Amino acid sequence: MPRTLPIRDNGRVNHADQDTTDTLDEQQSRGNRLYPRVTSFRSRRGSLTDPQQDAWDRRWPELGRDVGDDLLDADTWFGRSAPLVLEIGSGTGTAAVAMAQAEPHINLIAIEVYRPGIAQTLQRIERTSDTDAPVSNLRILRGDAVEVLEHMIAPESLTGVRVFFPDPWPKARHHKRRLLQPKTFTLIASRLKPGGVLHVATDHAEYAEWILEAGNAEPQLTDVTWESPVSHERPVTKFEDKAHQVGSHIAEMIWGKIGA
Ligand SMILES: C[S@@+](CC[C@H](N)C(=O)[O-])C[C@H]1O[C@@H](n2cnc3c(N)ncnc32)[C@H](O)[C@@H]1O
Repeated sequence: MPRTLPIRDNGRVNHADQDTTDTLDEQQSRGNRLYPRVTSFRSRRGSLTDPQQDAWDRRWPELGRDVGDDLLDADTWFGRSAPLVLEIGSGTGTAAVAMAQAEPHINLIAIEVYRPGIAQTLQRIERTSDTDAPVSNLRILRGDAVEVLEHMIAPESLTGVRVFFPDPWPKARHHKRRLLQPKTFTLIASRLKPGGVLHVATDHAEYAEWILEAGNAEPQLTDVTWESPVSHERPVTKFEDKAHQVGSHIAEMIWGKIGA
């Protein structure tokens, strides 16, 4: 099977950035607006269970949006003005929902590409409605977080960005797929307000070193020597749980945007 088919994007054939190690599925995944270019995520076509589809039908129109080109008006979407925090790669929403409950004064947006994960997040949000802390401060953006940061988030508008257990892409030929590259640090830092905080956790030792080096090299970021505007507490997700079970060390890294 040919492994270097041209990629169609908006009618143009794009030969750029081809990776002969990618599957055809991965290459095709770059061809539409929701899942573009060389990405930090795998193309997964998970279908929804009936309960997940029901939750999607009920809650997505209110709580979710697809990535787009227009600047996001978060205050209007949330119906209030509050510090804005993004969680990138929220998976099934374990951390996002727990953190939204723990920080009701924050407007939190979870960004994820995987539809079943988003559906589970919607289900988790619904389950909080019978608790003492029903979640009303969490929204979901579906699509590539890099696209979201580039097009939908204004410079110096975020109080926090969280990236918990990003895919490590351990093979050297896949390192270019890693989400946390120097250019992503620059992008994230540009979207943080002065004093805003980037919080990263990973259980992958080599990726941790790579992340630390890139984060420390970003001139807009520094150690947080002021009172952080967001909590650094983090609920244990299933990825972290698995890491604990095999005895992996969890690296926790926190930077602040200069100018606080
Ligand atoms: C290893 S999982 C971790 C999920 C969750 N943070 C946790 O700790 O359980 C990484 C997640 O990031 C998502 N992801 C990877 N790259 C992304 C991107 N560029 N934009 C949005 N989500 C992304 C993947 O779909 C996947 O669900």
